Amino acid sequence: MNWLNQQSSQDNDIQNNIIQSGKLPRHLAVIMDGNGRWAVERKFSRTAGHREGIESVRDIVKASSQLGIQYLTLYAFSIENWKRPVSEVSVLMKLLEHFLKAELNELHENKVRINTIGKISSLPQNVQKLLHDSIEKTKDNEGLTLTLALSYSGRWDIVRSVQMIALDIRRGKVSPEDISEDLFSSYLQTSKIPDPDLLIRTSGEMRLSNFLIWELAYSEIYITDKFWPEFRRTDLYESIMNYQKRERRFGKTSDQIAIENNNKESESYISRVVNAFKIK
Ligand code: IPE
Ligand code: IPE
Ligand code: MG
Repeated sequence: MNWLNQQSSQDNDIQNNIIQSGKLPRHLAVIMDGNGRWAVERKFSRTAGHREGIESVRDIVKASSQLGIQYLTLYAFSIENWKRPVSEVSVLMKLLEHFLKAELNELHENKVRINTIGKISSLPQNVQKLLHDSIEKTKDNEGLTLTLALSYSGRWDIVRSVQMIALDIRRGKVSPEDISEDLFSSYLQTSKIPDPDLLIRTSGEMRLSNFLIWELAYSEIYITDKFWPEFRRTDLYESIMNYQKRERRFGKTSDQIAIENNNKESESYISRVVNAFKIK
């Protein structure tokens, strides 16, 4: 089913408004938190919360793709989450398996490219195989890149990268003087993905919980009290509209940013005029 033909005209209008009113985040990262609390509040089992959380995943993936966001990274399971009761971990793995089986064709039809970060080798064999097949099937897609962070932790990826750099130094491929931020980033599992522009965390917690700790250095952060199972496309729209109002300064002053934006505007005006006079 093509997601672009599935929208209500009202939804389409809201999306067009957002697209026209400012820059979209190129990379949106989400800490999907609060499934358990959502369920407990309703006297359901935590499993019911995880199940409902998948409905939010479906809606947010679809809406991100419809908006034309290029990268969406979802924190689905951290290395620390292995410390949860075995029964909860096994439900989460089953739900992941079910999600991949049920959604792969639709994701593929809608040009989604599936990607993972994390210690995939510690996931159950059947989940590893499903992930491998999903990545393979969708590898040439040019729509949304959907990265699932599974058995992931930011510190784990940093330590892994340091080990690999040390090995390359031993092999003579890299010298210590070569180590720069760019070189370091190229060893991370996120090397082919730009840093997140916007991080959303649901359920009100003000922490990173070991998610993309290197990559989030200059991301805008949006925290909502809503639990993940109740976070749907209208909440996503709200977070993006909030993002569009922010001034990203990257250490500079507000005045400097204003001058840069003016320069960009005049450059684009000049290039439009030049193009208009070009002989075709
Ligand atoms: C997020 O919801 C899902 C995972 C971490 C896998 P939680 O399960 O953490 O829900 P809360 O935070 O306990 O409410
Ligand atoms: C963060 O949620 C991890 C994921 C959403 C996968 P947690 O529920 O594990 O985070 P903490 O333990 O409250 O920091
Ligand atoms: Mg939690």
